[in-house]
Amino acid sequence: MSHKDKIDKSKLPRHVAVIMDGNGRWAKKKGKLRTFGHENGVISVRETAEAAAELGIEYLTLYAFSTENWNRPRLEVEALMTLLLRTINSEIKTLNDNNIRLLAIGDLGALNKSIRTRLLKAIDETKNNTRMNLVLALSYSSHQEILQAVKQIATHYKNNEISLEEINEQLVSNHLYTKDFPDPELLIRTSGEFRISNFLLWQLAYSEIYITPKLWPDFRKEDLYEAIVNFQCRERRFGKTSEQILKQEEVK
Ligand code: FPP
Repeated sequence: MSHKDKIDKSKLPRHVAVIMDGNGRWAKKKGKLRTFGHENGVISVRETAEAAAELGIEYLTLYAFSTENWNRPRLEVEALMTLLLRTINSEIKTLNDNNIRLLAIGDLGALNKSIRTRLLKAIDETKNNTRMNLVLALSYSSHQEILQAVKQIATHYKNNEISLEEINEQLVSNHLYTKDFPDPELLIRTSGEFRISNFLLWQLAYSEIYITPKLWPDFRKEDLYEAIVNFQCRERRFGKTSEQILKQEEVK
């Protein structure tokens, strides 16, 4: 029996975020270059996006390149950027055919101009698609995201556009790259590492975290289904007691 059959479609997470990890180790195990792992990681990206859209998940955010990743060897960074460009070019039609909207979060200004231009064009070309939002985190750092939000809010305060009392959680959320998205209910990380790696630190406050030992290039639809079944077995208490949650469910 597939895990898919065990999924309760009425209790799907609206937003799933993924830390795609283990490409390098996957390639090394096969005696290949790290870039071979990244290339095969694209197959997992396609499978995961397809499965998420088929299920009816509204937002899928993939951590594709962190600001820290700029410090990798130049050849690997170049290979990743070329792969990104190639993937956008090859997948844009599939995204449109499947009514999927492409979005990006991160310091996009740090990307090479030709990649940024292509990315922004793809974002524009898919802007009317409504089935699922596929969000790529590129040159992304959660610390930087929060820092730029703090600076914007401080500027509003300095210019007397807001009062101290108006600075609340909602206002901070409204200044993050993710201001238009719900927070992820589920974070998946592959390759068995128990880290968040500077990813969506504010937004993951109440997310369920699912770690699989699978390396990203081995991640397939069935693995996403398994993660969602696992998520649906959890009790999300948001700081309350089990008894309070059960009572809430009864009232519903
Ligand atoms: C982590 O594995 C993966 C990355 C840093 C890049 C992820 C990129 C892809 C899956 C391909 C391109 C994506 C898109 C959206 C086109 P790692 O290199 O850190 O692996 P390791 O931990 O085994 O070294």
